[in-house]
Amino acid sequence: MANQEDIFKKVVSHAKEYGYVVQSSEIYDGLSAVYDYAQNGAELKKNIREYWWRAMVQLNGNIVGIDAAIFMHPTTWKASGHVDAFNDPLIDNKDSKKRYRADVLVEDHTAKIEAKIEKEVAKAAKRFGDAFDKEQFLATSPRVVAYREKIDTILKRLGRSLENEDLADVKALIEELEIACPLSGSKNWTDVKQFNLMFGTKLGASADSAMDLYLRPETAQGIFVNFLNVQKTGRMKIPFGIAQTGKAFRNEIVARQFIFRMREFEQMEMQFFIKPGTQQQWYETWKQNRMKWHLSLGMGNENYRFHDHEKLAHYADAATDIEFKFPFGFKELEGIHSRTDFDLGAHEKYSGKKLQYFDPEMNESYVPYVIETSIGLDRMFLAIFSHSLREEELENGTTRTVLKLPAVLAPTKAAVLPLVKKDGLPELAHQIIDALKWDFNVIYDEKDAVGRRYRRQDANGTPFCVTVDHQSLEDQTVTIRHRDNMEQQRVAISEVGEIIAREVDMKTWLMEMA
Ligand code: GAP
Repeated sequence: MANQEDIFKKVVSHAKEYGYVVQSSEIYDGLSAVYDYAQNGAELKKNIREYWWRAMVQLNGNIVGIDAAIFMHPTTWKASGHVDAFNDPLIDNKDSKKRYRADVLVEDHTAKIEAKIEKEVAKAAKRFGDAFDKEQFLATSPRVVAYREKIDTILKRLGRSLENEDLADVKALIEELEIACPLSGSKNWTDVKQFNLMFGTKLGASADSAMDLYLRPETAQGIFVNFLNVQKTGRMKIPFGIAQTGKAFRNEIVARQFIFRMREFEQMEMQFFIKPGTQQQWYETWKQNRMKWHLSLGMGNENYRFHDHEKLAHYADAATDIEFKFPFGFKELEGIHSRTDFDLGAHEKYSGKKLQYFDPEMNESYVPYVIETSIGLDRMFLAIFSHSLREEELENGTTRTVLKLPAVLAPTKAAVLPLVKKDGLPELAHQIIDALKWDFNVIYDEKDAVGRRYRRQDANGTPFCVTVDHQSLEDQTVTIRHRDNMEQQRVAISEVGEIIAREVDMKTWLMEMA
């Protein structure tokens, strides 16, 4: 079986080869941790964004969407705490001269222990066969329990040291765990230093009058500064939410793993404004809501888990990640944070403007508390793309590469293929496309034998192929082939649209959340 690294390499090369994701400015050898979405990638990304927007804004009468600017008044970032606290702890290896995030080095170390646990589980599953009870094994195997304790102790200490800004202890932890530079194998480390992740830029033409700005490191602040506008103009009553999607920028030091950690990326965030004191209940509600959204895509319940934070961000009183099983292990996909009244309170203080809500039931004004849900669109893209990419052994001994994207998100819903390039078949194929294109993205493909075209569409993630042959001219029927099980049906041309709609209709998929 291919190892994790090989699988991931395949994901990256497939994304490039099939027009999903390429390195930015590739003709100039690329720009590190910046990527472009090509023709299929842009469609998949748009579909994910729409799936999120519909679930958030369309399905919730008390949530509205906005589109705030990337540039914001610089005081925003002072108020939000990003100028002072949006730092990563960095450490350099003196021999390789490579720079690392100190916390990531420690987390990678614990991931290796986690991998040992998985190995133990796999061994035991083999030994006990059908009688194997994974939960029981995890709870009772002395070796696994010891590994777990080790992980817990390490992460707790890391969390505590970061919380207390005790960078010397973070370095001590790295040394005690004998963590070596992945590049050189050396354990010769510098001290740990803090590094601010915001990109700076300037607004204005002349050097002396120019204003220092930041590219926003999160979309959330665009929502907070618009809280009162939206509440008043939309006559919103608490509890209510404001959602938005858009670009964010971070000067990530450990920018690797393809589009998992980028310097320019897109977020889909929602801030839910609530009455102080109700945050625990709403935090739980949003945890469940967001998990349901993920599970509705049918990518396997076992591939998701919650990971509650030990170390809370400066604005939060509770926080969890929804983690997904990427090819390189379980990693954060989405964050759910109980942000208290930190942001609105800070913007009140720095702007001198009241950002309060008058509660007619209580007959008093207060600064609302906030529950935030924040997901990286690119990271969601990677979760879906890497999960969908499969090498399948077929009954005839051959293999096929298939991208089993959830049909609702697939960039192209159907390919229409004339069996041959003559006898009026291309013309009929184009007529079918002309009828379908009002509802779906459909493409025409006439090159190569039909079997190769099927394989090409499988690898492209297209859920349906519609083949037009000579019989089609006589009885107005076509063959429709399903990507996932490769089954073929003969159906009337007039039925094709309905068959596709049944599988790609967003409503049907979203209703899984109900
Ligand atoms: N407003 C809260 C916030 O920004 P975060 O945990 O820093 O919280 C939220 O980011 C989500 O944004 C993450 O769960 C991840 O999906 C995505 N994200 C963060 N940094 C990213 C990066 N450098 N590249 C891609 N996605 C990123």
